[in-house]
Amino acid sequence: MTRKLFVTTALPYANGPFHIGHIMEYIQADIWVRLQRMLGHEVNFVCADDAHGAPIMIAAEQAGKTPQQFVAEVAAGRKPTLDGFHISFDHWHSTDAPENHALARDIYLALRANDLIDVRTIEQFYDPDKGMFLPDRFIKGECPNCGAKDQYGDNCEVCGAVYQPTELKNPTSALTGATPVLRSSEHFFFRLSDPRCVAYLEQWTQDGKLQPEVANKVREWFKPGEDGKALLGDWDISRDAPYFGIEIPDAPGKYFYVWLDAPIGYLASLVAWFAKQGRDVDAYLADPALEQIHFIGKDIVTFHTLFWPATLHFSGRKAPDRVWVHGHLTVSGAKMSKSRGTGISPLRYLELGLNAEWLRYYIAAKLNARVEDLDFNPEDFVARVNSDLVGKYVNIASRAAGFLAKRFGGELSGDVGVEGRALLDGVRAHADTVRELYDEREYGKALREVMLLADRVNEYVDRTKPWELAKQPGMDAALHDVCTVCIEAFRVLTIYLAPVLPALAARVEAFLRIGPLAWADAQRALGRHRIGEYRHLMQRADAAQLDALFEPAAAAPPADTPALPGGEAIAAEIGIADFAKVDLRIARIVAAARVEGSTKLLRLALDVGEGRLRNVFSGIASAHAPEALIGRLTVLAANLAPRKMKFGVSEGMILSAGHADAKAHPGLYLLEPGAGATPGMRLH
Ligand code: MSP
Ligand code: ZN
Repeated sequence: MTRKLFVTTALPYANGPFHIGHIMEYIQADIWVRLQRMLGHEVNFVCADDAHGAPIMIAAEQAGKTPQQFVAEVAAGRKPTLDGFHISFDHWHSTDAPENHALARDIYLALRANDLIDVRTIEQFYDPDKGMFLPDRFIKGECPNCGAKDQYGDNCEVCGAVYQPTELKNPTSALTGATPVLRSSEHFFFRLSDPRCVAYLEQWTQDGKLQPEVANKVREWFKPGEDGKALLGDWDISRDAPYFGIEIPDAPGKYFYVWLDAPIGYLASLVAWFAKQGRDVDAYLADPALEQIHFIGKDIVTFHTLFWPATLHFSGRKAPDRVWVHGHLTVSGAKMSKSRGTGISPLRYLELGLNAEWLRYYIAAKLNARVEDLDFNPEDFVARVNSDLVGKYVNIASRAAGFLAKRFGGELSGDVGVEGRALLDGVRAHADTVRELYDEREYGKALREVMLLADRVNEYVDRTKPWELAKQPGMDAALHDVCTVCIEAFRVLTIYLAPVLPALAARVEAFLRIGPLAWADAQRALGRHRIGEYRHLMQRADAAQLDALFEPAAAAPPADTPALPGGEAIAAEIGIADFAKVDLRIARIVAAARVEGSTKLLRLALDVGEGRLRNVFSGIASAHAPEALIGRLTVLAANLAPRKMKFGVSEGMILSAGHADAKAHPGLYLLEPGAGATPGMRLH
């Protein structure tokens, strides 16, 4: 029976280029999708930019662009990366597209007609200077639990406490530095605490649509807490203007919270894709055989397993059939971080000429169906690619192709004798197992299975020794059989690897002069068939190439400027005593302003834990808008003799990184300490 599959990956925020975590998710979904297509199933695989929300609106404003312009520019840069990693989306859309505006309104009106929308007045922090309500992450202050300074509005990075922004001590707006004030405003709520919703979601989350560990976690939402009330409360789905989003019908100045319209973007993308093909999307969605499947990361489970199914079901639509959650990609055991230089830019990976299929293979080899984090380790990467792909798999073809071309005009022998047939039958017999493992997203297990088969084929070659047969008179037929077995086995292994290595599979198809491989082709033989000329199929990975992959830490120039040519010469050697003379302290930038009469200087007020503020002039105006510096931590050379300047006395110097030749390599990067550092701490 042909399956009908509507498959999505999470919609990336349109606030910047892809990071490697996005690509990992796309690779996972793409492998699954390609398997289904090889099996003859019908797949519609779509994604979109998640365009809305306050952070994008603010980022656009800081970049001097309209949000529409801003997200359009991000979207325009997507294609080379998607193509480069062979991600086979059928369609890519945007949540700001008209289809999504229309769908979000329809869905909301259906929920309202179903008596599931409430309007309530709530109190929130408001930035009086900026004239807007502040999202949690734009409020900073002292943790109400441990007193750590400079913590975000919803949780403390130092002690881990979770709280309301209104509980922060000495809150400030991260946008303007102003003290936020409490203001009340009407918000719209989706009444998820309604018994209908609770009953539906309890059922939906626990009936096998989710991985067991996900279902268990989600179950917590239905248990009564200390106050006897379940965690699953009503969901605030509105935000006040100014906001980049979709306006709520009959409520001027009110917008849907981005997480309401974002998953609706899955449908909008599908609608646009069907319109492009002239197909009826409503009929497609109404088909009871249709399976709707979302691939997502572990950080967005709540939205996809509670809010999204309820949104769909109670607006009279089909709810998802599966939500498949993956863990996060870490790099050498650490969370990816731009500032630590441990991030990997997917575009950079491609630009360095690294083979996209190495990464596809490596990620697949480490993936399973559970919600486990997956570590990218450069040494491990090189070892896996070289030993498995080049050493085991590609090797089979290269061992046989030369003899076939030279001795037999590229023609396979047709029948291959008992031992060869037994080997091929053995390799073919694994088609169902490998398929099932892929289908269950147990890619690591599937690939181990395939590599064991490759081992078997290589053992056969070692045993039959074609290089010796080639030298022995009268052994032509035996040599021909062995080489034919290799090519047949290689073709079957290529089918098993094709979901992971689609470009390589296409090159193999050209080499073997065969059409696009389907899964069922594993059970057929080529018979007497003339293959084409063998060309090298895959290069070995090289550790030095991977070194170049790691993005330079934040202090280095952006990827589009040339790497520092050797950089600036290192200064004359000093002893530790010399170094100890410099008193470097963590400083908080409490205020920052331009200096009239100077294009270079900013005047900073710094808290260095001395119970007073220091006045420091810093030549960083070209690189930093003063508003963007307020609240940030940096490092101050605190025992420099005060310097009298035209504009006043400067009491120290803050540290930035930059190139010696600032004209050729512009860019200045403020030094920032890791989370948890507080003003006054000494560097040693
Ligand atoms: N815009 C929302 C999703 C809306 S879906 C209707 C969002 N965007 S995101 O850009 O932050 O993340 C997109 C996807 O990438 C999510 O599934 C997220 O889990 C995944 N990943 C983000 N970081 C990741 C890793 N380090 N590793 C693997 N996946 C990662 O959330
Ligand atoms: Zn704390």
